[in-house]
Amino acid sequence: MILVTGATGKVGSEAVRLLAAQHRPTRALVRDPARAPYGGAAGVEIAVGDLDRPATLDAAMRGIDTVVLVTPSWPVQEIAVIDSALRHGVTHIVKITNHKATVDSPVDRRRDHARIEAHLKATGLAYTLLAPNLFMQNLLAVAPMIKQTGGFTMSAGDGRFGMVDARDVGATAAAIAAAPGEHAGRAYLLTGPELLTYADVAKELTHALGREIEYRRISPDEHREAMIRAGVPEAVATSNAQVFGLIAEGDAEWLSDDVASVTGIPPRSLRTFLAEHVTAFS
Ligand SMILES: NC(=O)c1ccc[n+]([C@@H]2O[C@H](COP(=O)([O-])OP(=O)(O)OC[C@H]3O[C@@H](n4cnc5c(N)ncnc54)[C@H](OP(=O)(O)O)[C@@H]3O)[C@@H](O)[C@H]2O)c1
Repeated sequence: MILVTGATGKVGSEAVRLLAAQHRPTRALVRDPARAPYGGAAGVEIAVGDLDRPATLDAAMRGIDTVVLVTPSWPVQEIAVIDSALRHGVTHIVKITNHKATVDSPVDRRRDHARIEAHLKATGLAYTLLAPNLFMQNLLAVAPMIKQTGGFTMSAGDGRFGMVDARDVGATAAAIAAAPGEHAGRAYLLTGPELLTYADVAKELTHALGREIEYRRISPDEHREAMIRAGVPEAVATSNAQVFGLIAEGDAEWLSDDVASVTGIPPRSLRTFLAEHVTAFS
């Protein structure tokens, strides 16, 4: 039986959907069953639990062999899942992480992922790490601005990135969870098929929407302030702005074939993603 955490999120919900479609016994950990998008799908058990309440994790972990571990990347939550897995005889954890997760990263989210990875490795459990590039779904956060103003602001300059559809991250996690043995101890880099800048994103949006969409460059400091004004918690806004500043310097300029080599299916392009989400932007 496979347990998927973060199962109402972008990566987790797709992993559950695909595992259910393959009739793999799957348990989805959710806070609110009403938000589970696959309610009633054959073979999917819903475990109501909270990553901040370890007792609920223990209840969800019974009979589980493999865990797909995805959270908003809080160490205390992920470490609680890993420790619960260890107590309940889980044999393999597939963890969503960050390609640049190092203990001395300037970005706190990356240091957090490094801390979780170190804890996971120290348990002796078999594991697989999935390190995605920027998610295409992040663009949905600027969809209201695009609708209202015909453009979007971003602080990544002309930095290039290998943007990936979070559904392809979920598909890779599902493929590994279905047959984890051959993936033990391995790390995969997950990207879409092409390197893009936000100017390219604006061109693709222009193509998808049939009207000119403008990319307005701002500095990471301006971006941080704008995110805070929009209600993003200060620590998250600081991290996000740091990441955009790094992207401007080429930090996310990498591509990989790992989605296709693990799943057997090429990753979705930005054009495909936008065609499927056009109503969100128009
Ligand atoms: N965005 C990017 O560009 C990017 C790039 C590389 C790596 N990543 C990594 O991807 C991961 C995030 O994946 P995602 O985008 O799929 O996440 P997401 O869509 O933000 O979903 C987060 C999930 O965690 C659940 N959750 C949050 N707090 C919880 C709690 N206390 N108890 C139980 N469940 C809880 C949420 O449930 P509710 O529905 O109840 O809120 C939701 O299912 C992070 O590790 C991040 O570092 C992201």
